[in-house]
Amino acid sequence: MKNRNIKKVAVLGSGVMGSRIACHFANVGCEVLLLDIVPKEGKDRNAVADEHLAFALKSNPSPIYDKKFAKRISTGNFDDDLPKIKDCDWIIEVVIERLDIKQQVLANVEKYRTPGTLDHYEHQRHSDPRDRGRTQ
Ligand SMILES: NC(=O)c1ccc[n+]([C@@H]2O[C@H](COP(=O)([O-])OP(=O)(O)OC[C@H]3O[C@@H](n4cnc5c(N)ncnc54)[C@H](O)[C@@H]3O)[C@@H](O)[C@H]2O)c1
Repeated sequence: MKNRNIKKVAVLGSGVMGSRIACHFANVGCEVLLLDIVPKEGKDRNAVADEHLAFALKSNPSPIYDKKFAKRISTGNFDDDLPKIKDCDWIIEVVIERLDIKQQVLANVEKYRTPGTLDHYEHQRHSDPRDRGRTQ
């Protein structure tokens, strides 16, 4: 089996799961791209991911081992920043549990991801265990 060197991870969805997963990858030294939707109101297009991450960082117990590790996490939104997943070694999907939304997100992922990267799509955990984690 080929060894993988995971340096950069994209986490798609910054909710309960996504924000914590982002912190744990930052804990182990990875650069993390954390994306979520553009909010319906307001000018800050990254506000959803920023607010979710801030909430996670303030939670107790904290998912981040040292506050300085949080600098490894960059936030963004699906509309502006999804092309950046081309530089990620691992793409993790943890958006809302709605099949139609997940299918749309994953169709967009396929446009930008680099073949050979490792992907984990959360819906697959609930549907077919044989599909957990996929490499192509
Ligand atoms: N929370 C858990 O304990 C847990 C455990 C196992 C698996 N999961 C799975 O992980 C996934 C995420 O769960 P969660 O608890 O983090 O949910 P969550 O509701 O906290 O987060 C979901 C995220 O999806 C985003 N979202 C909403 N509409 C969207 C859209 N149209 N396009 C893209 N993103 C959108 C939301 O902004 C939110 O940040 C789900 O599939 C869930 O079943 C969760």
